[in-house]
Order: sequence, then structure tokens, then C-alpha cells
Amino acid sequence: MGTLRAYDVRQESTMIQPLDFNDRLGLKSVDGVFKAEITNVIRLTDWEKLFHLRICDDTERQRFSFLPGQFVMIEVPGYGEVPISISSSTSNKGYLEVCIRNAGTVTNALHQAQRGAKVGIRGPFGTHFPLEQMEGHSVLLIAGGLGLAPLRAPIYYVTENRAEFKDVHILYGTRSPDQLLFDYQYESWRRIDDVNMQIIVEQPNGSWDGPVGLITELLDGVEVDPQQTFAIVCGPPVMFKFVCRRLNEMGIPMDRMFVSLERRMQCGMGKCCRCNVGATYTCTDGPVFDYWSVMNLKEAI
Ligand SMILES: Cc1cc2nc3c(=O)[nH]c(=O)nc-3n(C[C@H](O)[C@H](O)[C@H](O)COP(=O)(O)OP(=O)(O)OC[C@H]3O[C@@H](n4cnc5c(N)ncnc54)[C@H](O)[C@@H]3O)c2cc1C
Ligand code: FES
Repeated sequence: MGTLRAYDVRQESTMIQPLDFNDRLGLKSVDGVFKAEITNVIRLTDWEKLFHLRICDDTERQRFSFLPGQFVMIEVPGYGEVPISISSSTSNKGYLEVCIRNAGTVTNALHQAQRGAKVGIRGPFGTHFPLEQMEGHSVLLIAGGLGLAPLRAPIYYVTENRAEFKDVHILYGTRSPDQLLFDYQYESWRRIDDVNMQIIVEQPNGSWDGPVGLITELLDGVEVDPQQTFAIVCGPPVMFKFVCRRLNEMGIPMDRMFVSLERRMQCGMGKCCRCNVGATYTCTDGPVFDYWSVMNLKEAI
């Protein structure tokens, strides 16, 4: 790859609306930067929105492919670029889905965006969850909070290839019920895809009648053959540290647990040294690691 910032907004002197790429050059894609349109915005919670991003050029859109666990860099003109996990099914060629929390400068700008706004996309980047290797086994898909965003692509893979897996458990925990993401999908995962889906919250409100506590408590009710089980765990490091410890107590080997390690990133392609833990670059060697490797990465969690 050559120039990283093909869509350098600082050269865009005539831009009036910061999120309007429409006047912007005639570029389709340059150096791996795809111009994409926001075709839908769905409010999931007070903090997170789901965006549908459609790569504008037909050929580039058809050619774009990714694996569950990979991420893209999304550039908002005038604001910057952020790494975001792809939340959609790998079989969906029409558009990418990304679930974005309003966390700061760039993500806040994205939350102001309307349908029709254009952004730049680079990627996909990083390692993926080895789902083919998991076929023929039971899988535990475990997420805390925003972790359901990166977990959603593996969930699509497993449910779309349901016959290839034994027991499938999705365990999801948030602090409060109003933080639950993608709640409109839970019933279909349960009923149509024959998945054991369980949810727990730490701080219930008046209408919550489900389990209350930490996500590790959901594992008490799960029976699996540890030698025939893989686990994917997505969430904040403090959460996957406790979950992986509990999984290990259940007898699941650490190299059969996979986590996504998120660090601050800039280039996404192993060039800027922004994301490294020792000699390991989380953008290219990760973000998906088996837990055994994470345990051997000094200061990883
Ligand atoms: C591989 C990867 C995948 C990610 N996937 C998603 C996703 O699917 N959805 C989503 O909402 N977010 C995701 N993130 C986090 C997202 O990239 C950050 O929230 C975003 O970069 C913040 O940028 P900002 O300009 O909005 O905020 P800033 O103004 O830069 O910072 C606001 C706050 O966010 C914190 N922050 C910045 N970068 C990160 C980071 N990488 N991880 C954690 N905190 C950070 C800052 O320390 C600060 O407290 C992912 C990060 C990585 C590395
Ligand atoms: S983000 Fe630049 S080296 Fe990883």
C-alpha cells in the first residue's frame, strides 16, 4: 500500500458539511480506501447505533470480503479514522454492518450522520476467529456489553452453518437492561437457530425479570464436554479475564478460547507502532488471539 490517507480531508477546501463526501473528488477507491455510503442508521441504545455501509463502487463492493472478527478503519472526513469491528454476516455482499458506541470525537461525528452521508473505509484488517476449526464441536459465544458487536459476525457464521456445530450457547451480559444490544434478534437465535441464548444484567430495572449478576454466573448452568468445546469471548479485558479463568476451571484448554484484544490503533496495518504489546502488533497479529497467547503477552490485559 502507498499513501495511507487517500481521502485527506485537509485538501478539501470547499467542504461545507463535514459529513458530506458528495463533492469530494471522483474517487472510487484509492490505495484500498473505499468510498462508502451510510444507507441506514438504527438506534440500538442511548449510546450505540448500527450503521449500514454500502461501498459505492459496484465492483469493489462485490469484491470486498472479510472473515468474522476482522475490523475496518472508518474515516469521517474532517474528524479522523477509527477501527471498528464488522458486525454483519460474511455472506451479506450488499452492505457492511457496524455497531458504534458514541465514545469521542470520531464516533460522535458518526452518530450525527444521516443516511446518504459518505465515509471512507479501509480494510478489512486483522486476524479472525477460526470458525472452520471449530466445526464439529460445541461452541460458547460469550459477550459483555459492546462485545456483542464483534461477536455478531461469528454468531451469523455459526447460525448460518448450524448443522456443522454441536451445542451452541450464546451468553450475554450487560450492566443494565437498557444497554442490551440487538435485542430484536434473541428470539430468532433461540427458536430458529436452536441456540441456548442466556442474558444476565448486573443492575436490573423494574421490568427486568431475568437473571441478575455477572456473566460468569451464566456458565454455572452450562454443561459441555470441555475437550469438544471452543469458546469465543468478546468484551472488556477485565471481563474476559474472569470468563476465561472460569472456562479453564471447566476444563476448556486456553488455546481453545479466543478473544479480541482492542488497543488504540492508527494505521491498522502494522506500520505506525501505535497498537503494539511488546513485539506483537494487535492490528496485524490480532485483534483475535487465543487466550494462551494473550496470557503470554506481557501487559496485554
Ligand atoms: C480492533 C478494534 C475494533 C473495535 N470495534 C469497535 C466496535 O465494533 N464498535 C465500537 O463502538 N468501538 C469499537 N472499537 C473502539 C473504537 O475504535 C473507539 O471507541 C474509537 O476509536 C474512539 O474514537 P473517537 O475518536 O470516537 O474517540 P476519542 O476522542 O479518540 O476517545 C474517546 C475515548 O475512547 C477511548 N478509546 C479510543 N480508542 C479506543 C480503543 N481502541 N479501545 C477502547 N477505547 C478507546 C479513549 O481512550 C477515550 O477515553 C474498536 C477498537 C479496535 C481497536
Ligand atoms: S495500528 Fe499502526 S501498527 Fe497497529
